[in-house]
Amino acid sequence: MVTHAPEDAYTAAPFLPDHGGLTALRKAAADCRGCPLHRNATQTVFGAGAENARVMLVGEQPGDQEDRQGSPFVGPAGKLLDRALNEAGIDPSEAYITNAVKHFKFTQAEPRKRRIHKAPTLREMSACGPWLAAELALVEPELIVVLGATAGKALLGSSFRVTQVRGTVLDREIHGRAERVVATVHPSSVLRAEDREGAYRGLVSDLRVAARALL
Ligand code: URA
Repeated sequence: MVTHAPEDAYTAAPFLPDHGGLTALRKAAADCRGCPLHRNATQTVFGAGAENARVMLVGEQPGDQEDRQGSPFVGPAGKLLDRALNEAGIDPSEAYITNAVKHFKFTQAEPRKRRIHKAPTLREMSACGPWLAAELALVEPELIVVLGATAGKALLGSSFRVTQVRGTVLDREIHGRAERVVATVHPSSVLRAEDREGAYRGLVSDLRVAARALL
């Protein structure tokens, strides 16, 4: 009989190396079995960017393209994000970019049909939390940019509401460290918005707040 860990027992913690920096972390994350999401995903999509980046951007989870390519924000949402960052005065190549959850979660009506993004549960987010905590501890960014509700809940707790706090600099304790955080909407929500231009302007305006906080 195959037994599975109860959902409460989901955690990446036993898979984390105790030394070796981001390279060791990324390598270990490739074999993470801390929750069931690894089963259907192609690969772990770990954060990307320099260990000395001044700003860390945190999204939700990899999408279809990211799952295939193994890097965060390389699909349509990532392209829009890059454009918005550049417009706001943040060089995307100088940022560290990662996700709250490192495996693509999706539904698929039939094999070979399109894979539809499915939001991670709180349990999956908290299972994956040790990777994000370790990334934060190593990169020690001066500013965290939270992209959307999932990243906000993962870092700031389940009561986080992006509409209430977006575009302001928040001082928060996260994993025992005093952090400065700017929250904004997820770039995918801009792609889905009825008023796409207005939503994009809102994203850029929030990112300008982040850019100013880094001056
Ligand atoms: N959306 C995310 O939140 N992260 C990615 O890496 C891609 C799309």
